[in-house]
Amino acid sequence: MHKQIIVKDLYKRYGQLEVLKGLNLEVYEGETLVILGRSGVGKSVLLKQIIGIEKPDSGSIEIDNIHLSSMEENRFPAKMGMLFQGSALFDSLDVAQNTAFYLSEHEQELSKNEVKERVAHALELVGMSGTENKMPSDLSGGMRKRAALARLIVYHPKIILYDEPTTGLDPITAMQINDLINTTQKQLKATSIVVTHDIRSALEIGDRLAFHHDGRIAQIAPKDEFMNIEDPLLHAFFENAILTKDLLHGQPHRRS
Ligand SMILES: Nc1ncnc2c1ncn2[C@@H]1O[C@H](COP(=O)(O)OP(=O)(O)OP(=O)(O)O)[C@@H](O)[C@H]1O
Ligand SMILES: [Mg+2]
Repeated sequence: MHKQIIVKDLYKRYGQLEVLKGLNLEVYEGETLVILGRSGVGKSVLLKQIIGIEKPDSGSIEIDNIHLSSMEENRFPAKMGMLFQGSALFDSLDVAQNTAFYLSEHEQELSKNEVKERVAHALELVGMSGTENKMPSDLSGGMRKRAALARLIVYHPKIILYDEPTTGLDPITAMQINDLINTTQKQLKATSIVVTHDIRSALEIGDRLAFHHDGRIAQIAPKDEFMNIEDPLLHAFFENAILTKDLLHGQPHRRS
């Protein structure tokens, strides 16, 4: 299988705080890789280096055999998109304008009507038809995630990074978002990296699972093997995640 993303020996620090400490990761074309890990280990930081919003201190990221550091600003070999922790919709734009936002950047030759059609189709895919004129402040948490997903899939990215797509959502809405991630995967044949605390979601959507611990990927394996890995740190993570969920009556344990 083609290795589409290769992260080698990545280091990133903020002042005194070392976050990524020689992280290695390979992602295959077309797979959904789920990254699990405790709060604050640097999962979001890793995604920001991969999408190029931040620059690592050292190490390299290759996408389709091209080094990220050798690319011009915001020029990616494959179309990439990221669903940010907290959705990050533009509050002053309505749903249709939000959805069209990156489309014009990626496909400048589209006419107004074509944009309108693509937006309508993307909103239909995420089950948000008819919400074109709603403002983000009028949307529920699940709808915001869906609108943010529409804003991505409208330009058919080949690599999608999801940062905590189900955190803060009730279990049923979380399941709907997981289904959407799976459908998006099938429709776009995209390579996806999903960061989450949510083990149930990980099992529903992941082909392979990885455990991010202390600035590195400590474990990575196909889903079935992953659950049988004998690693005390991984077991502590599982136990803690399940315990916290029980305490909160099945609700995800934190909002972000
Ligand atoms: N721009 C920044 N400046 C300073 N510190 C930062 C910055 N970005 C992240 N950090 C710190 O790096 C560490 C890792 O942050 P990150 O957001 O990647 O954690 P995470 O694993 O995504 O956690 P969570 O599961 O809570 O989202 C945290 O201690 C955070 O405060
Ligand atoms: Mg995070």
